[in-house]
Amino acid sequence: MRSVAEQFEKVPIESVPADLLAAARSAFDNAYAPYSRFAVGAALRSKAAIHAGANVENASFGLTRCAEQSAVQALVTAGERSFSEILVYTASAEPSSPCGACRQVLAEFAPDARVYLVNHRGAALVTSVAALLPGGFDGSKLPS
Ligand code: THU
Repeated sequence: MRSVAEQFEKVPIESVPADLLAAARSAFDNAYAPYSRFAVGAALRSKAAIHAGANVENASFGLTRCAEQSAVQALVTAGERSFSEILVYTASAEPSSPCGACRQVLAEFAPDARVYLVNHRGAALVTSVAALLPGGFDGSKLPS
């Protein structure tokens, strides 16, 4: 198993794409997180555009939608099927990484995408979907 240090490389905030960061921050500002009070903004880059998503919670807690999944929903809704990079923005003490379910959702469309994790203090880490989900399930196992 990879250690956290191997999986995430610390990078200067100046090396993070500014347009992706701005889109993720704006989604973060729109997050609906009255229960956890943990807002998350995500933005991913496809060929044609940047698609953003926020976490959307529900009084029935299990119906909560993560920010990364909201961004993938926006991507597919726009008629696209892949992206090259995604940025996840939080206000946590350390940058926060996608949950297991989000890793699987990201891998469906972009197993090779770069993943930036950024917090409100400007701490930035970079990794990849492949590094975050070693040995994940994929459609090749399904009957044709
Ligand atoms: N959350 C995300 O949006 N993405 C993740 O990868 C982890 C968790 C949200 C879900 C919930 O609204 C809040 O963060 C606390 O779990």
